[in-house]
Amino acid sequence: MRRSWWRVVAVLALVLLLAPAGCQKAAEPAESDQPPPTPVAAQVFAANCAGCHGEQGQGARGPAIKPSKRSEQELFLIIADGRGEMPAFRGRLAESEVQALISFLRGE
Ligand code: HEC
Repeated sequence: MRRSWWRVVAVLALVLLLAPAGCQKAAEPAESDQPPPTPVAAQVFAANCAGCHGEQGQGARGPAIKPSKRSEQELFLIIADGRGEMPAFRGRLAESEVQALISFLRGE
């Protein structure tokens, strides 16, 4: 009984000692990986849209979409629900990310 109690204390102490170190390690590369802060919309676009619409939105597999003359509502529906070959992004992107994308595409 006494023995196992000490084991629990030893494990807890180890976890407490290692946990903060582990967190710091995980956070470091992410910080140094992104030197100049890129606007959210450009990051979201590069990660989700550029593969089909081109790095600058100039068009590739999907049509050119930047700058877009479509209204905010039209863009929101296309991004949220998808269209033709384009997948729906509702539930995959936060609403704030979609709003940022819309302004980005409209050149605002
Ligand atoms: C798998 C490829 C693919 C991905 C990923 C993709 N799209 Fe598309 N997108 C398309 C295709 C193909 C169309 C044309 C659909 C049609 O009209 O049939 C399209 C159409 C559009 C249109 C309408 C263009 C117009 O004015 O007619 C917009 C706006 C758009 N995409 C924005 C986005 C955004 C923003 C993202 C990222 C969140 C994205 N797309 C990701 C393939 C893609």
